[in-house]
Amino acid sequence: MSKFLSKLNIIAKNTNSYLKKFFLKQKNSSYLLFPMKYGIFSGGKRFRSAIVVNTGKILGLEYKKSIIIGSAIECMHSYSLIHDDLPSMDNDELRRGKLTVHKKFNEFTAILAGNSLLTLAFEILSGKDLKLPHNYKNELIKTLSKCSGQAGLAGGQYSDLTFENKKITKRKIINMQMKKTGELFGFCCESVAIAKGASFKQRKKFKALGLSIGLLFQTVDDLIDYSGDSITVGKPTKRDKKKGKATLVNLLGYKKTVAFAENLKKNIDSQIKNLSPKSNDLLDSLDFILKRKF
Ligand code: IPE
Ligand code: IPE
Ligand code: MG
Ligand code: MG
Ligand code: MG
Repeated sequence: MSKFLSKLNIIAKNTNSYLKKFFLKQKNSSYLLFPMKYGIFSGGKRFRSAIVVNTGKILGLEYKKSIIIGSAIECMHSYSLIHDDLPSMDNDELRRGKLTVHKKFNEFTAILAGNSLLTLAFEILSGKDLKLPHNYKNELIKTLSKCSGQAGLAGGQYSDLTFENKKITKRKIINMQMKKTGELFGFCCESVAIAKGASFKQRKKFKALGLSIGLLFQTVDDLIDYSGDSITVGKPTKRDKKKGKATLVNLLGYKKTVAFAENLKKNIDSQIKNLSPKSNDLLDSLDFILKRKF
């Protein structure tokens, strides 16, 4: 675990320095750069970037390319968190150990900074730093658009909010988690296959892998909300129950949800082992998800 954490740290540093350079290059800057930077350089784990790098090791994608794709995904992720914390959504005041963007600035600034991080993701993927053929980049952009829009992350967030205080079946909860969190993890894995020019069949396999990783990640996030410590996590805990969130923990209870997560992890481990023998770092990422306290 500590070996994995030091590797994760290096990936986080490399992702942050790529993003910092990209921010420095922004021309005609506006005030929005401040809340954008506040929201993105606030100590996120950069775990999605690590999934790109570790999937990249399986398919032999050059490290620099993985970091650039990972950086774009982290922009999309940070946008989703800024909006997720808004009063009209989860109404939270603490994120990554600091005030949420709307608390530090104000609501309209948080909405616009979030929008601008979302579009920055596409600016990064289409930029000249990412040395890939145009048709590959086009495919990356198209796929990320789908993963983050109404049929993906945004659609999942819509379900999350409309499911509050309602009796929702296990199947529907899993479907919602796969969208709000799974789709972006799906892109973490599929993007590597796209960048390597893999077949549609291969791309589908990698997307399915990422979707399951995302489901596991969100399930553990919900477990941490139930039993975790707010200081360690850097965000409020014990909130999902109060908000009447449709989570597996709230439906099945803590123990059954832990068993569900352990079982899911075993399935993902074997999915990964079937893909490649060179998958140690990706397998370690899975261990991290289950054991993490933050
Ligand atoms: C939190 O994601 C939101 C979920 C989708 C569960 P992370 O736990 O990856 O948050 P950061 O980026 O490390 O802050
Ligand atoms: C957020 O899920 C998922 C997103 C797509 C942003 P949560 O609402 O559980 O995330 P946290 O707990 O606030 O980080
Ligand atoms: Mg939420
Ligand atoms: Mg939230
Ligand atoms: Mg949560």
